[in-house]
Amino acid sequence: MKTERIVIVGAGMGALYAALTLAPRPVLMISPETLGEGASSTWAQGGVAAAMAESDSPEAHARDTVTAGAGTVDSDVASMVTRDAAAFILDLTDLGTPFDRDAAGQYVMSREAAHSAARVVRVKGDQAGRQIMETLIAKVRATPSVQVIEGALATGLTTDGDRVTGVWVRRAEPSSDKVLIETPAVLLAGGGSGGLYAHTTNPPRIRGQVIGFAARAGAVIADPEFVQFHPTAIDMGEDPMPLATEALRGEGAILINRQGERFMTGVHKDAELAPRDIVAREIFSQTQAGNRPMLDTRAALGEEVLTRFPAVAEACARAGLNPVEQPIPVAVAAHYHMGGVDTDEHGRSSLSRLWVCGEASSTGLHGANRLASNGLLEALVYARKAAEDIATSLPDAPAQEEVRFDWIDGGEMVDEALVSELRETMNAHVAVRRNAAGLKTALADIARIEAAADTETMRNMTATATLIAAAALEREESRGGHFRDDFPEPVPALAHRTKITLEAAMAT
Ligand code: SIN
Repeated sequence: MKTERIVIVGAGMGALYAALTLAPRPVLMISPETLGEGASSTWAQGGVAAAMAESDSPEAHARDTVTAGAGTVDSDVASMVTRDAAAFILDLTDLGTPFDRDAAGQYVMSREAAHSAARVVRVKGDQAGRQIMETLIAKVRATPSVQVIEGALATGLTTDGDRVTGVWVRRAEPSSDKVLIETPAVLLAGGGSGGLYAHTTNPPRIRGQVIGFAARAGAVIADPEFVQFHPTAIDMGEDPMPLATEALRGEGAILINRQGERFMTGVHKDAELAPRDIVAREIFSQTQAGNRPMLDTRAALGEEVLTRFPAVAEACARAGLNPVEQPIPVAVAAHYHMGGVDTDEHGRSSLSRLWVCGEASSTGLHGANRLASNGLLEALVYARKAAEDIATSLPDAPAQEEVRFDWIDGGEMVDEALVSELRETMNAHVAVRRNAAGLKTALADIARIEAAADTETMRNMTATATLIAAAALEREESRGGHFRDDFPEPVPALAHRTKITLEAAMAT
């Protein structure tokens, strides 16, 4: 079918904000689930980083972003994003987001790792993602130019030369035959890759498919080797693993092991608030050594943990654990992909008519290690940039009929056993600590899984997995979230971003 609507793939914060920015230009949003469900943004606990306090500044925020990124952040991007941050918070406030305020009406800020100031604007402690999403969803539902298709998955792009001409979609569940939507423009805003790993904090569908199908269509991918592992995923048998937000450590919660030792004090001067990659590697070592790392909120928060961090309290309750009395078992889990589809300052990819924002993109903001709570901020900033660029790049489109989907039963069935194999391989060989032998094993496993895969969805996952493992093998050094046992130091000459195509990755 053909439409003049702009197709937005995904329904997280970037997708919703872009749809609102594009209004009244007609948009078709492809959401795998009911709006708000299954999007990483909804699960974001910490909040949005923005220099709102008088004692803070966008320059300090940009400096912290560059430092955390371990030598590969694009400083112009960091300056631009941090400069605009406060304006986005004010806009979200105007739209109705109930940010936490003190009695004087000032925004209450959380402190998170590697920030030189308390700088994370939050909602009801750990509910920022959910509350901002609810605000944006209400606006999108009330915007007649936005048609939302819920329960549909994008599985691929069509191209004419290097111009994107359409998107293949199918019903998510049960599967259906795929349908081609021909469109003048596509904005990818469908999240990252955490679910390619057996241990992840990402919602179940977020498994690198969007980056994968963009790569399969020929888009250049940037920095795929840089995957961020969260140090404090709650380790009580759930998949995905619930998060225990870094803001808890900002409030004074400490990390101990089963011997009761507070181990981070011997590792870094900032102890629990050391950069995320450093805490993650130490948690991983403690787990490997059988020391059972735990997050202890008892002295810092006491009973307040239940009311001030309701999402964490709820996850603990599901596992029968009372954080007021017991420390919370934690482990590392894939959390955020710094890499993604290479995008310029307008959110444009290397393919014409294809824009990208949010975790599916790689803008140069995060470098090798994203500064906490810069993810939602980047999604908002680039959603607006991409929407404005789309609007100026295309002729005005009049109001459009709604696109009708008559799904025909059938289509692909993803082999969950193969998915599990892929996730285990990534966890074993392409996670917090890597080396050449493990990465080569992973690439061979991924190639075998790819050969056995007979669905687009699976091939999209293996494409992203190949990109991560191949770029990790190529980068013979350690930097930020990418740590090589066989090359444990950073190499100054390698302090640059990776730009790679799927073809090149497959030749590794
Ligand atoms: C957290 O709340 O710990 C996560 C924040 C983030 O990943 O930006």
